[in-house]
Amino acid sequence: MKNSYDLVVIGGGPGGYEAAIRGAQLGFSVACIEKRVHKGEPALGGTCLNVGCIPSKALLDSSHRYEATKHELADHGITTGEVDIDIAKMLERKDSIVKGLTQGVAGLLKGNGVDWLQGLGTLVDGKGAEKQVKFTPLEGDEATITAKYVILAAGSVPIEIPVAKTDGEYIVDSTGALEFSEVPKRLGVIGAGVIGLELGSVWRRLGAEVVVYEALPEFLAAADKDISKEAAKLLKKQGLDIRVDTKVTNAEVVNGEVVVTTDVKGETQTDTFDKLIVCVGRRAYSEKLLAEGCGIELTERGLVAVDDQCKTNLDGVYAIGDLVRGPMLAHKAMEEGMMAVERIHGEKAQVNYDTIISVIYTHPEIAWVGLTEQAATEQGYEVKTGSFSLSANGRALAQGEGVGLIKVVADAKTDRLLGMHAVCVGAGDIVHQGMIAMEFVSSIEDLQLMTFAHPTVSEAVHEAALSADGRAIHA
Ligand code: FAD
Ligand code: NAI
Repeated sequence: MKNSYDLVVIGGGPGGYEAAIRGAQLGFSVACIEKRVHKGEPALGGTCLNVGCIPSKALLDSSHRYEATKHELADHGITTGEVDIDIAKMLERKDSIVKGLTQGVAGLLKGNGVDWLQGLGTLVDGKGAEKQVKFTPLEGDEATITAKYVILAAGSVPIEIPVAKTDGEYIVDSTGALEFSEVPKRLGVIGAGVIGLELGSVWRRLGAEVVVYEALPEFLAAADKDISKEAAKLLKKQGLDIRVDTKVTNAEVVNGEVVVTTDVKGETQTDTFDKLIVCVGRRAYSEKLLAEGCGIELTERGLVAVDDQCKTNLDGVYAIGDLVRGPMLAHKAMEEGMMAVERIHGEKAQVNYDTIISVIYTHPEIAWVGLTEQAATEQGYEVKTGSFSLSANGRALAQGEGVGLIKVVADAKTDRLLGMHAVCVGAGDIVHQGMIAMEFVSSIEDLQLMTFAHPTVSEAVHEAALSADGRAIHA
């Protein structure tokens, strides 16, 4: 550790560690301060690698394989013995994937000459040319470090609600829901958002009866209506009991069970669960990050206020990722980290916020990029749309995945693609085609004129584009 760096990054999540590595690549001396201790070890990788994206996807994969082996192989003529799951082994696999990746990040930082300072970073003064950062190590004495530039990348934490206080055992947040040592018989979930659907799916596939409470009257309000309708239908068919317009008014543990009281349009209902997951969104985490008088402005919602290039109100201080406006997504945090560092280096990097992809890793996946039909209409576009059902896509049918749809949204006047939406096998990968097309300002006609390989699920993108002009062949 040195007393002074060109760049100090506070937070070693996907936003922070990528910024630190890029900074080192550009020739800066860089320190990355990260306080996280995961399963007894100091750990880089933030929420995403330790308790977010990666462990949740490991469990989604295990639970999907279990369910597919149990219920789908017979259709292929494959006979198995009794199919069982060892939850301890499943969690061990998840943990070893997390460990491999977080250690990999530590290796990358080291390899690039970034100093990983294990402990808490606090911006004490960001106003002058030499920024002051207090470093409180996990062990040892506190020190003050100076830096020409600081990137704040402290991420987010789950929102807590007073009616369902987490206790780490019966009522848990997403982190607790990654660690159940056995499959709950009955699982309650508050919030039918991304975490509720993903982790609700994991435990449902493993055998839990799952009830998901959603306060809003609409399911997946941010998604295109055709997609959310189809997704609701498919997820309900899988056994997720999603109850919209349902307000949880109380949750308490009685005799080792969680009793949840809800208000459904004025009517009180009660359900009992073995476990309850509270996942009603996340909030920016700036506690202990900003000393009083450090000069950083926050928004009304407690986010660090930044412009389109992630500059805060203080020269040379940037903030990125879940700590600032925009979707709380790892890939958004990473790109912002790179942009901030490249801007510091004098380059003209810019994140295109119009093409940030959303993916919900249910099965099938739900994903989109750009404007929904509803948002495009609200923004005054004369909208044209095309969609194609996977029930007519040969590859999807051959895979036993002939459900869902792909939809394109375009400006009818210019034919320009404004959005791509999908609920289908591999939707998260499929909509990258929409992202690339939008970045290159492609038209629906462009997508119609390209040759898509047969048989692929991507052909449904082609057919959706053809259908926007009434030309779909297989519809
Ligand atoms: P974080 O990853 O939160 O990292 C910030 C780090 O800063 C933390 O490790 C924290 O310990 C550290 N820190 C905070 N304050 C200080 C301080 N003062 N000093 C030192 N260190 C500090 N996103 C996706 O894109 N895809 C997914 O599939 C996905 N799945 C998710 C699943 C779950 C269950 C959850 C909870 C989240 C998921 N996310 C996913 C969201 C994703 O994890 C976040 O958007 C992403 O981690 C944000 O990155 P970040 O670098 O801004 O912050
Ligand atoms: P979310 O914002 O996705 O969903 C929260 C849901 O809870 C919303 O539908 C909201 O209306 C509902 N809600 C809020 N208060 C409620 C209440 N009192 N009772 C009932 N319902 C209530 O938040 P979630 O699922 O907690 O995830 C947090 C963030 O983490 C996401 O917004 C996303 O940015 C990120 N994430 C991303 C993933 C991905 O990219 N695949 C996976 C998991 C998380």
